[in-house]
Amino acid sequence: MAERIGVYPGTFDPITNGHVDIIRRALRICDRLIVAVAENIGKSPLFTLEERLALVNHELGIVNGADGGKAQAKVFGGLLMHFAEENGAVMIIRGLRAVSDFDYEFQMAGMNARLDPDVEMVYLMASEQQQFIASRLVKEIASLGGEIESFVPPNTAKALRSKFA
Ligand code: PNS
Repeated sequence: MAERIGVYPGTFDPITNGHVDIIRRALRICDRLIVAVAENIGKSPLFTLEERLALVNHELGIVNGADGGKAQAKVFGGLLMHFAEENGAVMIIRGLRAVSDFDYEFQMAGMNARLDPDVEMVYLMASEQQQFIASRLVKEIASLGGEIESFVPPNTAKALRSKFA
Protein backbone atom coordinates (compact mmCIF):
# COMPACT_ATOMS: atom_id res chain seq x y z
CA MET A 1 0.00 0.00 0.00
CA ALA A 2 1.22 3.53 -0.77
CA GLU A 3 2.82 5.44 2.07
CA ARG A 4 0.41 7.94 3.66
CA ILE A 5 2.28 11.21 3.95
CA GLY A 6 0.91 13.99 6.14
CA VAL A 7 1.93 17.65 6.26
CA TYR A 8 1.60 19.59 9.52
CA PRO A 9 2.07 23.27 8.56
CA GLY A 10 2.50 26.24 10.83
CA THR A 11 4.58 29.25 11.71
CA PHE A 12 5.95 27.54 14.84
CA ASP A 13 7.05 30.84 16.39
CA PRO A 14 8.05 29.02 18.52
CA ILE A 15 7.05 25.35 18.77
CA THR A 16 4.94 24.70 21.91
CA ASN A 17 3.84 21.63 23.87
CA GLY A 18 0.57 21.90 21.94
CA HIS A 19 2.40 21.49 18.62
CA VAL A 20 4.42 18.54 19.96
CA ASP A 21 1.21 16.87 21.12
CA ILE A 22 -0.33 17.25 17.63
CA ILE A 23 2.87 15.89 16.01
CA ARG A 24 2.83 12.79 18.23
CA ARG A 25 -0.84 12.12 17.53
CA ALA A 26 -0.54 12.85 13.79
CA LEU A 27 2.11 10.14 13.60
CA ARG A 28 -0.57 7.61 14.59
CA ILE A 29 -2.62 8.34 11.49
CA CYS A 30 0.04 8.82 8.81
CA ASP A 31 3.10 6.77 7.86
CA ARG A 32 5.33 9.81 7.52
CA LEU A 33 4.86 13.38 8.73
CA ILE A 34 6.41 16.52 7.30
CA VAL A 35 6.35 19.40 9.76
CA ALA A 36 6.22 22.34 7.36
CA VAL A 37 7.68 25.51 8.85
CA ALA A 38 6.22 28.52 7.03
CA GLU A 39 8.47 31.44 6.16
CA ASN A 40 5.50 33.71 6.98
CA ILE A 41 7.36 36.98 6.66
CA GLY A 42 4.01 38.81 6.81
CA LYS A 43 3.55 37.76 10.44
CA SER A 44 6.92 39.25 11.50
CA PRO A 45 7.90 36.23 13.60
CA LEU A 46 9.96 36.68 16.76
CA PHE A 47 12.29 33.82 15.78
CA THR A 48 14.05 33.72 12.41
CA LEU A 49 13.16 30.93 10.01
CA GLU A 50 16.44 29.16 10.87
CA GLU A 51 15.73 29.44 14.61
CA ARG A 52 12.17 28.13 14.25
CA LEU A 53 13.39 25.23 12.12
CA ALA A 54 16.12 24.38 14.63
CA LEU A 55 13.63 24.43 17.53
CA VAL A 56 11.25 22.15 15.58
CA ASN A 57 14.12 19.81 14.62
CA HIS A 58 15.18 19.55 18.25
CA GLU A 59 11.71 18.33 19.26
CA LEU A 60 11.49 15.97 16.28
CA GLY A 61 14.74 14.40 17.46
CA ILE A 62 12.97 13.54 20.73
CA VAL A 63 9.72 12.42 19.06
CA ASN A 64 11.55 10.33 16.47
CA GLY A 65 13.49 8.62 19.22
CA ALA A 66 10.23 7.09 20.38
CA ASP A 67 8.42 6.82 17.06
CA GLY A 68 11.05 5.47 14.68
CA GLY A 69 12.08 8.47 12.57
CA LYS A 70 8.79 9.11 10.82
CA ALA A 71 8.75 12.89 11.25
CA GLN A 72 10.92 15.42 9.45
CA ALA A 73 10.90 19.21 9.21
CA LYS A 74 10.94 21.21 5.98
CA VAL A 75 10.63 24.90 5.20
CA PHE A 76 7.97 26.17 2.81
CA GLY A 77 7.38 29.61 1.37
CA GLY A 78 4.64 29.32 -1.23
CA LEU A 79 1.15 27.90 -1.33
CA LEU A 80 0.51 25.13 1.19
CA MET A 81 -1.34 22.97 -1.34
CA HIS A 82 1.55 23.19 -3.80
CA PHE A 83 3.93 22.10 -1.03
CA ALA A 84 1.61 19.19 -0.17
CA GLU A 85 1.45 18.09 -3.82
CA GLU A 86 5.23 18.40 -4.33
CA ASN A 87 5.74 16.17 -1.30
CA GLY A 88 3.13 13.57 -2.24
CA ALA A 89 1.01 14.30 0.85
CA VAL A 90 -2.52 12.92 1.16
CA MET A 91 -3.45 14.94 4.23
CA ILE A 92 -2.82 18.27 5.94
CA ILE A 93 -2.96 18.10 9.72
CA ARG A 94 -4.06 21.07 11.84
CA GLY A 95 -4.72 21.33 15.55
CA LEU A 96 -7.97 22.86 16.81
CA ARG A 97 -8.20 24.52 20.18
CA ALA A 98 -11.12 26.74 21.08
CA VAL A 99 -14.08 27.76 18.92
CA SER A 100 -12.06 30.87 18.03
CA ASP A 101 -9.80 28.71 15.84
CA PHE A 102 -12.75 27.34 13.94
CA ASP A 103 -13.66 30.25 11.65
CA TYR A 104 -10.17 30.61 10.23
CA GLU A 105 -9.64 26.86 9.89
CA PHE A 106 -13.05 26.35 8.28
CA GLN A 107 -12.28 29.00 5.68
CA MET A 108 -8.79 27.61 5.07
CA ALA A 109 -10.17 24.06 4.70
CA GLY A 110 -12.72 25.27 2.14
CA MET A 111 -10.19 27.23 0.10
CA ASN A 112 -7.61 24.45 0.20
CA ALA A 113 -10.20 21.84 -0.82
CA ARG A 114 -10.99 23.95 -3.89
CA LEU A 115 -7.29 24.14 -4.74
CA ASP A 116 -6.80 20.35 -4.42
CA PRO A 117 -9.73 18.17 -3.37
CA ASP A 118 -7.45 15.11 -3.24
CA VAL A 119 -5.57 16.38 -0.19
CA GLU A 120 -7.70 16.02 2.96
CA MET A 121 -7.62 18.59 5.75
CA VAL A 122 -7.52 16.61 9.02
CA TYR A 123 -8.19 18.38 12.33
CA LEU A 124 -7.02 17.05 15.66
CA MET A 125 -8.55 18.51 18.81
CA ALA A 126 -5.95 19.84 21.20
CA SER A 127 -5.53 17.60 24.24
CA GLU A 128 -7.10 18.82 27.44
CA GLN A 129 -3.70 19.79 28.90
CA GLN A 130 -2.76 21.86 25.84
CA GLN A 131 -6.13 23.56 25.11
CA PHE A 132 -5.04 27.08 25.94
CA ILE A 133 -1.49 27.15 24.66
CA ALA A 134 -0.82 29.66 21.89
CA SER A 135 2.63 30.76 20.69
CA ARG A 136 1.45 34.37 20.73
CA LEU A 137 0.53 34.27 24.43
CA VAL A 138 3.65 32.30 25.38
CA LYS A 139 5.77 35.04 23.78
CA GLU A 140 3.87 37.71 25.66
CA ILE A 141 4.32 35.91 28.98
CA ALA A 142 8.04 35.36 28.26
CA SER A 143 8.52 39.01 27.31
CA LEU A 144 7.01 40.04 30.66
CA GLY A 145 9.21 37.66 32.64
CA GLY A 146 6.50 35.07 33.40
CA GLU A 147 6.87 31.29 33.80
CA ILE A 148 6.60 29.52 30.44
CA GLU A 149 7.93 26.09 31.40
CA SER A 150 4.56 24.37 31.38
CA PHE A 151 3.68 25.64 27.88
CA VAL A 152 6.79 24.90 25.84
CA PRO A 153 9.52 22.22 25.70
CA PRO A 154 12.65 23.00 27.79
CA ASN A 155 14.74 23.83 24.69
CA THR A 156 12.15 26.36 23.50
CA ALA A 157 11.88 27.86 26.98
CA LYS A 158 15.65 28.40 26.94
CA ALA A 159 15.46 30.07 23.51
CA LEU A 160 12.61 32.33 24.64
CA ARG A 161 14.44 33.32 27.81
CA SER A 162 17.54 34.29 25.84
CA LYS A 163 15.42 36.32 23.35
CA PHE A 164 14.07 38.41 26.20
CA ALA A 165 17.17 38.44 28.39
O1 PNS B 1 0.67 28.46 12.62
P1 PNS B 1 -0.16 29.31 11.71
O2 PNS B 1 0.42 30.70 11.66
O3 PNS B 1 -1.61 29.28 12.07
O4 PNS B 1 -0.01 28.68 10.24
C1 PNS B 1 -0.68 29.25 9.16
C2 PNS B 1 -0.23 28.61 7.84
C3 PNS B 1 1.26 28.79 7.64
C4 PNS B 1 -0.56 27.13 7.85
C5 PNS B 1 -1.03 29.32 6.69
O5 PNS B 1 -0.81 30.69 6.78
C6 PNS B 1 -0.65 28.82 5.30
O6 PNS B 1 -1.08 27.79 4.89
N1 PNS B 1 0.20 29.60 4.61
C7 PNS B 1 0.69 29.25 3.28
C8 PNS B 1 0.07 30.10 2.19
C9 PNS B 1 -1.22 29.50 1.70
O7 PNS B 1 -1.29 28.39 1.24
N2 PNS B 1 -2.30 30.30 1.82
C10 PNS B 1 -3.62 29.90 1.45
C11 PNS B 1 -4.40 29.36 2.64
S1 PNS B 1 -6.06 28.97 2.22
